Amino acid sequence: MSLITIALAKGRLQDASLDLFGKAGISIPQDLLDSRRLLLEDTSGRYSFVFVKPGDVPVYVEYGVADVGICGRDVLIESAADVHEPLDLRFGYCKLVLASRPETAALGYNPLVATRVATKYPRVTADYFQRHGVPIELIGLSGSVELAAVLGLAHHIVDLVETGRTLRDNGLVVVDTIAESTARLIVNRASYHLKRIAVMALIQLLREAVRTVAQAETSQPEPIPAMD
Ligand code: PRP
Repeated sequence: MSLITIALAKGRLQDASLDLFGKAGISIPQDLLDSRRLLLEDTSGRYSFVFVKPGDVPVYVEYGVADVGICGRDVLIESAADVHEPLDLRFGYCKLVLASRPETAALGYNPLVATRVATKYPRVTADYFQRHGVPIELIGLSGSVELAAVLGLAHHIVDLVETGRTLRDNGLVVVDTIAESTARLIVNRASYHLKRIAVMALIQLLREAVRTVAQAETSQPEPIPAMD
C-alpha cells in the first residue's frame, strides 16, 4: 500500500511534473504510463499517482483523496482551495491576462454598458473587476476563450497566456496582466500533519530536484554570438 497519493494535472504540466519526479528518483514504469490507467504506482511502491484535469487537482488534494498534488498557480487561485502550498516548482510559467481586440482596448470601459467578459476563471475575473470597480457580465466558457472576443460574444476575455501565440494569431492584445503562474506543489492540510515524515521527505526530494534543475539552467554556457 502506497504511503502517499499524488494528483497530477493532465496536459500542459504533465510531462514536466513527471520529469521532476524522475529527477527526484521517483518514476512510474513506462508500460503503466502508456496504459489508460488513471491510478498508477511508482517503481518503489511508496507513491500512487492519479492523473486528473488541472482544475480538479486542488479538489482532490483539499478533500484528502490525494495527499499532495501539482497544479498551476492559476488553477490554485481560481479554486481558492484550502491547502498548503510549500513549494514553487518553477516550471510551467504563464500569465493570466485580460485581453481584447485592439479597438475595444482603446475604448476602455463604457459605464453605460455592462462589460461582458468571457473566461474559464470566473472567480479571478470577478475579483479583478470588483477591485477595479467595473461591473461586468461574466460569460463562463471551458475552452478556446479567445473566440469570444474575436466573434464579439464578449468585450474582453481573461485567459492564460504562455507563448502569446494564440492571442497574436487571433488579433487580440493584452490589456492587463492579472497574475503570474508557475507549477506549485500543494499538500492536504491533514496529510501535512498525519503523514508528516513521508510528506516532508517528498517535499525535500522535490526541493532538491528543483534546485538541481535551476543550477543546470544557470550553468548553461553562454550562447556564442553570431559573427558579422
Ligand atoms: C490555453 C489558453 C490559451 C492558450 C495560450 O488553452 O486558454 O488558449 O493555451 O497559449 P499560448 O499563449 O502559448 O498560445 P489550452 O491549450 O489549454 O486549450 P483551451 O483553449 O481548450 O483551454
